[in-house]
Amino acid sequence: MPHPYVLLSAAVSLDGYLDDTGPERLLLSSPADFDRVDEVRASVDAILVGAGTIRADNPRLLVNAPGRRAARLAEGRPEYPLKVTVSGSGDLDPAAQFWHTGGEKVLYTTDRGAERARALGITADVVPLGSGLDWRRLLTHLHDVRGVRRLMVEGGGQIHTQLLTQGLADELQLVLAPLFVGDPAAPRLFGPGSYQGGRLRLLETRAIGDVVLMRYRPTAPGTGPLPSAADHHWLALACELAERCPPSDTAFSVGAVVVAADGTELARGYSREGGDPVVHAEEAALAKTGPDDPRLATATVYSSLEPCARRSSRPLPCARLILAAGVRRVVTAWREPDTFVAGADGSGLLAAAGADVVVLAEHEERAKAPNRHLIGGGR
Ligand SMILES: NC(=O)c1ccc[n+]([C@@H]2O[C@H](COP(=O)([O-])OP(=O)(O)OC[C@H]3O[C@@H](n4cnc5c(N)ncnc54)[C@H](OP(=O)(O)O)[C@@H]3O)[C@@H](O)[C@H]2O)c1
Ligand SMILES: [Zn+2]
Repeated sequence: MPHPYVLLSAAVSLDGYLDDTGPERLLLSSPADFDRVDEVRASVDAILVGAGTIRADNPRLLVNAPGRRAARLAEGRPEYPLKVTVSGSGDLDPAAQFWHTGGEKVLYTTDRGAERARALGITADVVPLGSGLDWRRLLTHLHDVRGVRRLMVEGGGQIHTQLLTQGLADELQLVLAPLFVGDPAAPRLFGPGSYQGGRLRLLETRAIGDVVLMRYRPTAPGTGPLPSAADHHWLALACELAERCPPSDTAFSVGAVVVAADGTELARGYSREGGDPVVHAEEAALAKTGPDDPRLATATVYSSLEPCARRSSRPLPCARLILAAGVRRVVTAWREPDTFVAGADGSGLLAAAGADVVVLAEHEERAKAPNRHLIGGGR
């Protein structure tokens, strides 16, 4: 179920608020930063805001620079990104600027919300998602039906909080504004919730006028069978490591990373690493972890290829090494073909021992790339 790349964008006061409680929207960004936001908008396929932001701010959410719109058209893209909103109630003002400016619009809502929105005369593609709203379904729909590959989320706090606590954000772009709001009744950027553990990775800081842009990447693996956005980033790293393997005509090239539940990388490895002609990626990575590291029990092993279930070169196949290390979650891109071992079922072996095995097929081609000479096929 592929999702778009989800980029959360917000401006926040020094004390963590998105706005004050006055009738006008509080301007937190600097003019130069508004231009940066315009540039980010021009780069995405869709922009999403919650119904609360439409009610509070009546935003238009356009790409303002004519040159950026012209460039989109020249690339064969729509002049404006798709505008997306989310409402449970369907209680939206049909006269709001959101509906009457820019390009296409879509409203994701509940079955009851759809009835309400249609009765109010909302002019958009109204997509009911059942009795409640499931973010994974919404993101899959945007990807598969609307062709959205990059989604910019511009708030408000309720939306940002849900996407972050559900592990669905790929990137956070926060602008810290040098002022205080000081009113506990004002909307906060992030509300209470069970945030995935650990520290986010800082990707960039940039001063823009008197505000500071901070770009972060969440790193925490998903839980159980549910993939997080960070699972994709770690698996992409495993696929990158697979490309570093010394070439072989008799074994696969595989990369592996072991990541703690809080997003700390514990180890990484790849096939035939360090001059050992038979070492497997997961084995090489696990050998670098401490055998008694308590973090292994809740860690995830990322492997570009499904861990092996049988092998002749060592007493234990990788699926058993993973279980012996105490790891109970594995994310992989590609099930093992019958090239060297017929009917290998590392995933079955892991699952039978109670481990969750998540296959993210979006990465399959990348995982296969260094193995083309072994398996044939195009690309
Ligand atoms: N500084 C910034 O960068 C920035 C950016 C955006 C917004 N803001 C500020 O943020 C404030 C608005 O934030 P907010 O948190 O109140 O509103 P919000 O997050 O924009 O929208 C919340 C609304 O979205 C709908 N919604 C959210 N989650 C849903 C779910 N799981 N299922 C169904 N519907 C769901 C609900 O609509 P219904 O009530 O219709 O069911 C909910 O009331 C405003 O003051 C605005 O100025 C600031
Ligand atoms: Zn192996």
